[in-house]
Amino acid sequence: MTHAAVPESNLYDPFDTGVQDDPYPVYESLRAAHPVYWAPPSNTWVLSRHADVEAAPLDPGTYSSASGIFPTPAGMEMTELFLPMIMTDPPRHSQLRALVSRGFTARRIASVEPAVMAIATELVEGFVQAGACDLVAELAGPLPAMVIADLLGIPREDLAQFRQWSSLLVQADPVRDQTGAGLAAAASLYEYFSGFLAQRRKEPRNDLISALVGAEVDGQRLTEEELLGFCLLLLVAGHETTTNLLANSMVILARHPAARERLARHPELHPGAVEELLRFDSPVQGLSRTLTRDVTIHGITMPAGDTVLLLFGSANRDERVFPAADRFDIDRGPERHLAFGRGIHFCLGAALTRLEARAALEVLLRTCPDWEVDEDRSGRLRYGPIRGYLALPMHWLPHR
Ligand code: HEM
Repeated sequence: MTHAAVPESNLYDPFDTGVQDDPYPVYESLRAAHPVYWAPPSNTWVLSRHADVEAAPLDPGTYSSASGIFPTPAGMEMTELFLPMIMTDPPRHSQLRALVSRGFTARRIASVEPAVMAIATELVEGFVQAGACDLVAELAGPLPAMVIADLLGIPREDLAQFRQWSSLLVQADPVRDQTGAGLAAAASLYEYFSGFLAQRRKEPRNDLISALVGAEVDGQRLTEEELLGFCLLLLVAGHETTTNLLANSMVILARHPAARERLARHPELHPGAVEELLRFDSPVQGLSRTLTRDVTIHGITMPAGDTVLLLFGSANRDERVFPAADRFDIDRGPERHLAFGRGIHFCLGAALTRLEARAALEVLLRTCPDWEVDEDRSGRLRYGPIRGYLALPMHWLPHR
């Protein structure tokens, strides 16, 4: 089929390294001139304005998640991992969400706050006197990994191996990494979780996995495939996204020393700052849907069966909603940011993420508030529209 109404140029490609380095100028062009854009490199429509990106996930009957949510480079068959719930439409989605939500109640998250703070403190104290660290290796990676491992019930002694598989999985750039290392890591994780599930079946404990193993939806247990998918979903969704938020945040704050100084003096500003950090450089810049019917927006018809990439990262810089959107402003109150999505798939881990980000921020601002980032030696994550770092060297003057 042809998409004659819009330019067939390569204005936007989520797999282009230049776009990944700085997607924001391209987003601006998309919002201004091509709010419904056909992107040949990934065979997908792209929505970039806040109003359109916000409306789509509120209509899951039209914008389906069941065929996958990650954009795929054109001509490439991606073996998409099956992730239940996030890749499921109603009514099954509602059943699964009701089940898993029990592990993420406000009470449960509040109860892990002291543990999250203790992990952040322990990690930062491990490197603060050195005056330098790789933030990803020493804080942004391990903090969410330890938190999610505790939540799932994974023993600490398995954590190093678990983190290695998990990073291999998210580093497996579908365009540049042809080695299958990501798939091999996924297979190892499945095997690990399979043994873990068998163990919890035999000896249930007070953790999320035991709860899922024993849970029933309409009198039926979850299938082994669903249970394994849940483990992988919580790992991918709950670990690497937060790692990326922490790394992106420390770069932004190093570039905005006045804001950082205020935050060091006024901890009460931290919650608002975390929201602005989520808006300003969202770890999940975009996710896809598949159309169940023809949809016409801004005079352009997107046919049923096509995929649509919803650019949360662009929506969060839309001037129509956020005045001076390219300015980082911790006083903004960016309540309408879409970093956690919208609608029925709204991020289940939002409260936990906010808690982890506040903990990391608080400890770093207290112990080494004048950090500088060595951006030349940093390594950017190359995974389509997921935005973050694989390595982030930082240094500071040791205090105390
Ligand atoms: C900075 C951190 C995070 C970001 C930016 C983020 C972003 C998102 C986004 C955009 C969605 C919507 C997906 C869609 O509409 O297709 C989502 C869903 C989800 N997130 Fe997060 N997330 C983060 C952290 C977490 C954490 C810590 C957990 C769990 C421990 C988590 C678990 C989930 C789950 C289970 C879903 C699927 C919900 C559903 O399908 O109903 N996320 N997340």
